[in-house]
Amino acid sequence: MIVLLVPAFLIVGVTAEVTLNKVLYDRVDGQLTAAADRAPRAFDLLTLPGPSGCMQPRGRGFPPGQVIGTLAARICHGMVVNADVLMENGQMQPEVSNLDIKLLAVPVGAAPRSYDLGELGDYRLVARNMPDGAVLVTGLPLADTKETLYLVAGVVAGVTVLVLLAVAYIGVVIVGRALRPLSRVASTATRVSQLTLDRGEVELPQRVAEHDADVRTEVGQVGAALNRMLDHVGNALEVRHASEMQVRQFVADASHELRTPLAAIRGYAELSRRTGRHVPPEVAQMLSRVESEAQRMTALVEDLLLLARLDAGRPLAHEPVDLSMLTVNAVGDAHAASPQHDWRLDLPEEPVRVVGDPARLQQVLANLLANARIHTPEGTRVTVSVGVRGEQAVLRVADTGPGIPAELQPHIFERFARGDGSRSREAGSTGLGLAIVHAVLAAQGGTVEVDSVPGRTRFTVRLPLTAVGAVSEA
Ligand SMILES: Nc1ncnc2c1ncn2[C@@H]1O[C@H](COP(=O)(O)OP(=O)(O)OP(=O)(O)O)[C@@H](O)[C@H]1O
Ligand SMILES: [Mg+2]
Repeated sequence: MIVLLVPAFLIVGVTAEVTLNKVLYDRVDGQLTAAADRAPRAFDLLTLPGPSGCMQPRGRGFPPGQVIGTLAARICHGMVVNADVLMENGQMQPEVSNLDIKLLAVPVGAAPRSYDLGELGDYRLVARNMPDGAVLVTGLPLADTKETLYLVAGVVAGVTVLVLLAVAYIGVVIVGRALRPLSRVASTATRVSQLTLDRGEVELPQRVAEHDADVRTEVGQVGAALNRMLDHVGNALEVRHASEMQVRQFVADASHELRTPLAAIRGYAELSRRTGRHVPPEVAQMLSRVESEAQRMTALVEDLLLLARLDAGRPLAHEPVDLSMLTVNAVGDAHAASPQHDWRLDLPEEPVRVVGDPARLQQVLANLLANARIHTPEGTRVTVSVGVRGEQAVLRVADTGPGIPAELQPHIFERFARGDGSRSREAGSTGLGLAIVHAVLAAQGGTVEVDSVPGRTRFTVRLPLTAVGAVSEA
């Protein structure tokens, strides 16, 4: 608004000033012409004609009707004979330096012009030829005219500044008030943007208030559109959640249903092995393969079931767990499974206790140690350490094995992410171990990180020491 108003005021002000200038000067020129017409009457021109008569005029050039300040001068043969200014009674005419030169410069018979007459101020002067050969210069002061022009310019400038200030202030107030609903709409959008929408059941209770969603105003249209969008997004999220739950339920049900037939297959395979009757060696071999594959599949199904349950937010147990004890046992098991590895334990004197689900935490340890065992060659040193840092228990499993390929590392905690397909698959690897570690820890308010370079792979698990924050994400 200010940017628009400043040129507008400038145009108006300059136009007014220019017009006023013209009008006032025209008026002065009119008065000057009249004064010049009157001026000769003050001199007795009929006496002493000829050059000498010109030199000796009678009178001083101020006939009745001339205004105060009028200048009258006679020039004879290129010489100023007399130059007088009509002063108020009792006032002295000021001495003006170089007045004669300035008066002689006024062109005879031309239109009135402005001159600076020093102590007398600015004057409008006109020069005319007289019948006796003299030149009569008549002048009117411009002081009043200039004063009027300055006054008007000052008033226009002052009023402009005041009006601009007032417009700026009122503009800020009005625009601020008009946009206040918009900032409320924006704050609703900001609150929504801070919600976590990417997982789980999401509720979108935030809406723009009714009075800010009035479609008759522009801001209201934005508010109403935002509300409609939130409705849509809310519905979409509900649908997404429902379908997610459906898939999880399906996986959980399927895994659960698979357990029974798998148990039966395992059972029968074992039974056939134990009948004691002679079976041809290749049949015995086949049966043992059936048994081991059934076992592997059982482990896989158990993993899937656990993941499905964690996804569904099935609450975990919440009891004090001696992490040191759990670690000692897990390392003992790992040592039994692979005595060729160099197992090391690093425990603090005081047992470290956390709050959580002992069975699931044991599984976390077992998975990490199994990885250190299966994915590293014999002779590798595996160091398991437990410690406390601040409010967290820190468990580290470090090995000196070949490390995890760099391209696998960002996805290592995803399901079915595993390195070197053929070798791992042979070793019975499914790629669910670390996914379970991640899911279990997330459900207990903990975290797991990996950093790995060839020769040094380290998994760091952090768990809250107390129950605070250890609540399952469900
Ligand atoms: N300590 C380790 N050293 C080298 N590679 C590892 C280590 N731990 C994990 N990995 C790599 O990460 C992959 C994923 O591990 P994860 O435990 O999730 O699956 P897995 O061990 O292959 O199968 P599962 O544990 O389900 O039987 C592994 O296949 C392996 O390539
Ligand atoms: Mg594993």
